Amino acid sequence: MKKFLIAPSILSADFARLGEDTQKVLDAGADMIHFDVMDNHFVQNLTMGSMILQSLRNYNICSQIDVHLMTKPVDNLIQQFAKSGANCISVHPESTDHLHRTLELIKEHGCKVGLCFNPSTPINFLDYVMDKLDVILLMSVDPGFGGQSFIESSLDKLRDIRNKIDNSVYDICLAVDGGIKLDNIANIALAGADIFIIGSAIFGSSNYVEIIKQFRTVLESVNYGLIH
Ligand code: DX5
Ligand code: ZN
Repeated sequence: MKKFLIAPSILSADFARLGEDTQKVLDAGADMIHFDVMDNHFVQNLTMGSMILQSLRNYNICSQIDVHLMTKPVDNLIQQFAKSGANCISVHPESTDHLHRTLELIKEHGCKVGLCFNPSTPINFLDYVMDKLDVILLMSVDPGFGGQSFIESSLDKLRDIRNKIDNSVYDICLAVDGGIKLDNIANIALAGADIFIIGSAIFGSSNYVEIIKQFRTVLESVNYGLIH
């Protein structure tokens, strides 16, 4: 049985009640929290800094929180987010001039290390850094906004990355981020994802328990070979 993990992106949560909404999605069965950081420079949008992550920790959010940095530069923020309670920090290769050093910095600060790929970023960026990674995060939309449509060519890219991981000696989790809905999660699972980062489809639902249950039901069907 493959362990599939659901990571709600709180980009689509109610920012006026962020602590409460985050706890609610965890109580509804989410496995971890995905925390999107945008800087109005690397991407057009502007979201949350490390003080907000610290506030969630102070509010007693104890789950794993994976930070997705869509900022340029990143190195200074890595230190801030690690100090504020991030468990994993993922960066884009385009956001740093010295990727190797940036990945080392994440590890030195005690966090799991993630590398993100935009839809058009070639996966050969992996070639010399795979030994540094705990997570590969494949963007299936261009980063910047929640609620966009899944880019279909991501499925081929996902299969390619899955093969690369399976043919390596490394134990790396493969996450997919963007446009995941009930009608495409099965194909994404079949193409090789382990972690499903889901924003609008969960937070746009009036019943978090029910929507997470529906996602899990589809993933179980994949696991039992009922969808293939
Ligand atoms: C986009 C973010 C995603 C986004 C996913 O730049 O990285 O995490 O919030 O949201 P949905 O599921 O709405 O595409
Ligand atoms: Zn994200």
